[in-house]
Amino acid sequence: MSLWDNLCNMTQDGESMVGSFHFVCTLALIVGTVIQFSDELESVVDYSNRNLTHVPKDLPPRTKALSLSQNSIAELRRSDISFLSELRVLRLSHNRIWRLDFGVFLFNQDLEYLDISHNRLRNISCCPMANLKHLDLSFNDFDVLPVYKEFGNLTQLSFLGLGAAKFRQLDLLPIAHLHLSYILLDLVSYHVKEDETESLQVPNTNALHLVFHPNSWFSVQVNISINALGCLQLSNMKLNDKNCQRLMTFLSELTRGPTLLNLTLQHIETTWKCLVKLFQFLWPRPVEYLNIYNLTITESINMERFIYSETVLKSLKIEHVTNQVYLFSKEALYSVFAEMNIAALSLSDTPFIHMICPRFPSTFTVLNFTQNVFTDSIFQDCSTLKRLETLILQRNGLKNLFKVALMTKNMFSLETLDVSLNSLNSPANNRTCAWAESILVLNLSSNVLSGSVFRCLPPKVRVLDLHNNRILSIPKDVIQLQALQELNVASNSLSDLPGCGAFSSLSVLAIDHNSVSHPSEDFFQSCQNISSLTAGNNPFRCTCELREFVKSIGRVSGEVVEGWPDSYRCDYPESTKGTPLQDFHMSPLSCDTILLTVTIGATMLLLAATGAFLCLYFDLPWYVRMLCQWTRTRHRARNIPLEELQRNLQFHAFVSYSEHDSAWVKNELLPNLEKDDIRVCLHERNFVPGKSIVENIIHSIEKSYKSIFVLSPHFIQSEWCHYELYFAHHNLFHEGSDNLILILLEPIPQNNIPGRYHKLRALMAQRTYLEWPTEKGKRGLFWANLRASFIMKLNLVNEDDVRT
Ligand SMILES: *[C@@H]1O[C@H](CO)[C@@H](O)[C@H](O)[C@H]1NC(C)=O
Repeated sequence: MSLWDNLCNMTQDGESMVGSFHFVCTLALIVGTVIQFSDELESVVDYSNRNLTHVPKDLPPRTKALSLSQNSIAELRRSDISFLSELRVLRLSHNRIWRLDFGVFLFNQDLEYLDISHNRLRNISCCPMANLKHLDLSFNDFDVLPVYKEFGNLTQLSFLGLGAAKFRQLDLLPIAHLHLSYILLDLVSYHVKEDETESLQVPNTNALHLVFHPNSWFSVQVNISINALGCLQLSNMKLNDKNCQRLMTFLSELTRGPTLLNLTLQHIETTWKCLVKLFQFLWPRPVEYLNIYNLTITESINMERFIYSETVLKSLKIEHVTNQVYLFSKEALYSVFAEMNIAALSLSDTPFIHMICPRFPSTFTVLNFTQNVFTDSIFQDCSTLKRLETLILQRNGLKNLFKVALMTKNMFSLETLDVSLNSLNSPANNRTCAWAESILVLNLSSNVLSGSVFRCLPPKVRVLDLHNNRILSIPKDVIQLQALQELNVASNSLSDLPGCGAFSSLSVLAIDHNSVSHPSEDFFQSCQNISSLTAGNNPFRCTCELREFVKSIGRVSGEVVEGWPDSYRCDYPESTKGTPLQDFHMSPLSCDTILLTVTIGATMLLLAATGAFLCLYFDLPWYVRMLCQWTRTRHRARNIPLEELQRNLQFHAFVSYSEHDSAWVKNELLPNLEKDDIRVCLHERNFVPGKSIVENIIHSIEKSYKSIFVLSPHFIQSEWCHYELYFAHHNLFHEGSDNLILILLEPIPQNNIPGRYHKLRALMAQRTYLEWPTEKGKRGLFWANLRASFIMKLNLVNEDDVRT
């Protein structure tokens, strides 16, 4: 596996811009082993930092990786782990183990990674497992290096961590033939003897890491000789002007080989004088990458002479500086760095407030000044940085964008400028910014820029990062950025997507986390070259305007729209909040006013037509009238006055009709009434001979609950005269009386009624008659209406009883 090889294979650091110049020796194999197991979570057991004094008994037998570090375990017994037959990684660092017999791993033959560093081991007994790749025994209490003859069998071994109080030259002979990648040698407890130098022959390895005592002055008196070292890392060095030379002596041997490319110093406390001396010492050496992490400068900072002789050093990286010197000449500190004849310089996380402009044309192509306290005055009027390609001023105290632009004016090679995480403001509208024309990538993210920044941009910029600023809108009169391909305006307060008028080459746009509520639908038309749009997490208003945009997304396919569909959700109206835009549908009807008007119009027309049709073909008004009458009659029939019920009645109805209509009466009326047990008095049938017609009429009407008149032109000509007379004499049928039922058998034109029939005219005018329908279908309702007038709870008496 390649992870185990090439440990010093120039693993790139996170910062891509300086990355090509900055390599570190990493413990890649440690990371590698952990990564191997990360997919099989159930086999990784972590019991670190639990105050354990013993190995827990309940470990899952299929455990592959077990961490017991940072506990108080004093001993490891075979029975603790013998059942973990699949164990490959065991971490036991930072415990209290004082004795170790490798025999305890008899049943863990797959073990590859064993870390027992930071314990109290004084000795170990033979013999380590043949499969071990990583064995860390450093930071223990060994007197001499615990390397036995049998270590020579560890042919897989890649990492070895060791430490002892004293060294003998051939201590590491048993492993001299192995191909190690990384050796960690802890010299924390290394016992210093004055005026006596020990030496140690270290086997071939790519990387060597020496750790000194953190709180003692550097005073190591061991001659470490090694061939073909690629990476050297030294941790914990306290240096002053007196012991400074000791470090150079110590390093002389180690840096002699032509292969050493990478030197890393960690936790170093030194005077300025010693540091400059160290640089001067390394300048002619083969080291190409020099990294210093956690540097503390003590005592004083004075002008030091530095000869910038020819060097192969490409990159100097200093990260995290503490300066304990408060009064010093800036020139003394900064000029040493500014004049360096190397390609890449990185000073980050320092209290430095400035960097001076090199006096002569500089060799720098990359300058990384992340997280310092630089101000706008940096590199103003500086014309010696002609080869500078990348300048990073991230996380400093820059405020004025106009001045930043002016700074770049003479940096003719500058392609990438990162001034993110400052406090940059947009310049006033009328000022023209003096950007270097060569700038292709500009990072202005996390500042306080407003929309007018679009009037102050390098004309040929291709990648522009403006995320996390205060841009409300992109002004109309922006600079034409014909070359702009990537624009990031995420996390601002924009309310709409920009058109691509001024950015004709735009292919990548990020505008997520803004205030875009209804993005303009013509975005995709205007921005034909778009290959990636990130517009999620905006407060979308899920109304009609949004439909076209969602449709357009459907057309360009989800690959172009990043985060689709999960990050695109409705924010308004309240009822749709949280719904993915993908699932948001509005009917075409509610969104198109013309369509809506047409639909409503059509519906009304249809209703009207149906109404007209019903009236014309089914005589709807007739039905309505009949139904009204029917309900009225029913209502009245229910509320009959008491005296009605107490009248001496023989019949429910008296029917008067013309001879001419007798067929209808006998065939239609009588059967339908008598079907319901309505007792009928016919003026033909029940007339008492001998009595006058009027007398008969009076008699019949009085005996009956209701009087039915079958009206027809014949009836009016032959019969009505009697009743007219009757009505004139007896006011029985007063206005509003409902004892009278008129059935209009045939229509009677108003002018056919003779003028002397006042009562009839009045009744006809009131239209309170029942019309005999000619259509068969309507007759059911007619009969129902007629029958509704009768109440059946009347107590009728027989004719004979009345007579007697
Ligand atoms: C700009 O800088 C920010 C923060 O420093 C970083 O996250 C972002 O990736 C950079 N943008 C580009 C285009 O490099």
